[in-house]
Amino acid sequence: MSAAGVVPLIERKKNGGELSRDEIAGLLRGYVAGEVPDYQVSAWMMAVLWRGMTEAETLAMTRAMVASGRELEWEGIGRPTVDKHSTGGVGDKTSIVLVPLMAAAGAAFVKMSGRGLGHTGGTLDKLEAIPGFRVEIPLDEMRRQVERVGAALVGQSPELVPADGKLYALRDVTATVDSVPLIASSIMSKKLAGGARSIVLDVKWGSGAFMTTLDEARTLARMLVRIGEGAGRRTRAVLSSMREPLGRAVGNALEVREAIDTLHGRGPADLWALTLELGAHQLLLSGLARDADEARATLTRLRDGGEGARKLAELIQAQHGDPRVVDDPSILASAPVVVAMEMEGDGARWVAEADARAIGDAALVLGAGRRKKGDPIDPAVGIVLRARIGDRVEPGQPLADVHARTEAEARQAIEALRAAFVLSPEPVAAPSDAYEVIGE
Ligand code: URA
Repeated sequence: MSAAGVVPLIERKKNGGELSRDEIAGLLRGYVAGEVPDYQVSAWMMAVLWRGMTEAETLAMTRAMVASGRELEWEGIGRPTVDKHSTGGVGDKTSIVLVPLMAAAGAAFVKMSGRGLGHTGGTLDKLEAIPGFRVEIPLDEMRRQVERVGAALVGQSPELVPADGKLYALRDVTATVDSVPLIASSIMSKKLAGGARSIVLDVKWGSGAFMTTLDEARTLARMLVRIGEGAGRRTRAVLSSMREPLGRAVGNALEVREAIDTLHGRGPADLWALTLELGAHQLLLSGLARDADEARATLTRLRDGGEGARKLAELIQAQHGDPRVVDDPSILASAPVVVAMEMEGDGARWVAEADARAIGDAALVLGAGRRKKGDPIDPAVGIVLRARIGDRVEPGQPLADVHARTEAEARQAIEALRAAFVLSPEPVAAPSDAYEVIGE
């Protein structure tokens, strides 16, 4: 498609009209080929952000993105293929717990993950906190690993959905990230190209998530499920809260340690509850369990019998990491300075908010995340929450431990962290761990 041919398409979307499947495919092909310039695609995406896309347009966009690269084919793998995606949050280390459990349950789990940006963490950064762990694996090696181990935890291959890399970078600098059809096509194109037959999506809502309200998350979840089902994949979405971080640890090595603890049965209840919920849907969708009770019992048995932890060690070894970390997390990097942030004031209080966004930002101050793509991160630093929403706290009691490189950085993070905690003189109920599911 030529640059002149794009103007009427931008014009039509600006006026609230609909583009055909061929027009969307042509536009994206032209963009990836370098014939359509960034500024035209930016203008079109801004029109999409305001005017939205019909379901047919969103499906066409997703298909055109998939067609920009290779699609993985798992024929003959001998196990049901499953995939999972989280829309991103603070302290979300679920994949490190779930992937080995699902592999131990007999699934083939190819998890292509991303890096953290801003207040949100990324699974690849967490895995790289494990000494030696490699996330860049050629596709043929990945397939052999999945045949042998049942899982791979890797970076997004540049051969899959190259259009997304280009579009996402443009959205990042043109304030067009927060559009439901653009997010949905970005996520689902990668899931479809990954080739798994069953897809479970963890759609987060709350201050630490892309979608800050439950309603927005529901809209996105419905769209994701429709795209997946429309492409012939069994798809479900679980809505989960990102009002406070998931689990207690925020920061790469600290989160790996918490994921390992969870596989040993010593993890925080909310992380295990979400792992069980997502895993149960995966077992059901892939035919590895008959009902939710059996699915949950299977996952719990694999955790309690140590198969999940052993599978994680096998996975780490296959990807050149040090598998001893599973039995001895002290091998992970640790920060030289640990300072407790204590409650100030007088009289008992209840934690009303432990704001995920503010806690993610405080971890950023310590160097646990990156402000812009490519920034270095420090695997050792982060925050461990000692009090969570609903907990009763007394003056002098630690609300969080800050793991820092220096005393000065710890003090700076504590200042940022204070804004995250809202304390109430009245008792506050702990958040419920009931999940809304879309696509059942
Ligand atoms: N995650 C993605 O992969 N793409 C988006 O657009 C947003 C979140």
